[in-house]
Amino acid sequence: MNIFQKLDEKETIFKTKEYLDHRFIPETLPHRNEQIESIAKYWVEALNNITPPDITLYGKTGTGKTSATLYAKKQLEEIASERNLNIRIEYLRCTDFNTEYQILAQLCQKLGKPVPFRGWTKAEVVNTFRSLFTKNVLGKDMILIVILDEIDVVLKNDGDSILYTLTRTDNVAITSISNYVDFKKFIKPKVKSSLRDREIVFPPYNAAQLQDILKERSQLSFKEGVISSGVLSYCAALAAKEEGDARYALDLLKTSGEIADEIGASEVNRNFVEEAKDRIEHNKIYDVIVTLPIQQQRVLETIKDLTEKKKEITSGKLYESYQKLAKSDAVSYRRLFDFVNELEMLGLISTNTISRGRGRGRTNIITLQCDTDLIDKALQFKT
Ligand SMILES: Nc1ncnc2c1ncn2[C@@H]1O[C@H](COP(=O)(O)OP(=O)(O)OP(=O)(O)O)[C@@H](O)[C@H]1O
Ligand SMILES: [Mg+2]
Repeated sequence: MNIFQKLDEKETIFKTKEYLDHRFIPETLPHRNEQIESIAKYWVEALNNITPPDITLYGKTGTGKTSATLYAKKQLEEIASERNLNIRIEYLRCTDFNTEYQILAQLCQKLGKPVPFRGWTKAEVVNTFRSLFTKNVLGKDMILIVILDEIDVVLKNDGDSILYTLTRTDNVAITSISNYVDFKKFIKPKVKSSLRDREIVFPPYNAAQLQDILKERSQLSFKEGVISSGVLSYCAALAAKEEGDARYALDLLKTSGEIADEIGASEVNRNFVEEAKDRIEHNKIYDVIVTLPIQQQRVLETIKDLTEKKKEITSGKLYESYQKLAKSDAVSYRRLFDFVNELEMLGLISTNTISRGRGRGRTNIITLQCDTDLIDKALQFKT
């Protein structure tokens, strides 16, 4: 039998997984009416040919910022096209476009004036972008709403000049989305004063709200009778503890279902949710390790080696072993401790200062906080 056919015909408790995918935007977003209406209240100006105010959406991860914005985008696009209005809404994720140049080039591209993605001066790109807003022969202006998702990334990477340019282009409204309340510390006063934005807050979901969200999605995704309300409330409770993150709740549900499929179970129970939780945690740490800069991976590898040898890891011991591993690439003792701090902040290790007793001073002891196997797996392709 063809291996794909065999896999394809395997029994499954899923109807379809697509509705559990992060990119899926549901028809309704329970408990986000207020936020969607706030966005709409500002954007509606565009229907009267007035440039909407700039807005900023804040909230922790998985609180529905991106989904709510894309939902509002779709609705405005629908009505604008019915009324034959020249309104454009462009969504950009600043992880994909993280400089002013890239953002403007992408906007020009989308709006029908292609700009090469490198090679031009910034002024050329800015001028091309602005030329899109000069009145056409019919005097019909375009209103552009630019959604900058994960705006912190571009601010950190390239400064605030993108905001300066966009706020100083007629007919352009910015909607920015951020996970951090304090992202404005990256914006200079001059720019801040032209960005007179309105703020919309996305609070974390509580367990009951998460349960509503999961209920709708599980009905779309799983076959009848596979998910009990006990399982839903358990996923919701775990995610409520994780700062009300709906994405995490959905991941738990999906992974639990996959585990059930793997062992051929006909329904999901709480044990599968427990296991899903471990798996997701595992994957998260794995991703963190894989994306660490190579120098920090070396430090982590040294700590792992010493842990396996059951050595007590003092700062001195760590530096000595690290130098052996990194050889000519080794960084200074001071720099090494910046790395140690960063690894601790990521939760991969912990440090603890102990006193050796009278006259013998204090020592820092480093302890690994993740599986050595996981580090091996994450670093196996490194030399
Ligand atoms: N109210 C809701 N109803 C249904 N699904 C939701 C709701 N809120 C969030 N979700 C789902 O949870 C996931 C995360 O939502 P979303 O991407 O909008 O969060 P976010 O606030 O943009 O997170 P991040 O800050 O990490 O980008 C998505 O799969 C989305 O469909
Ligand atoms: Mg988002």
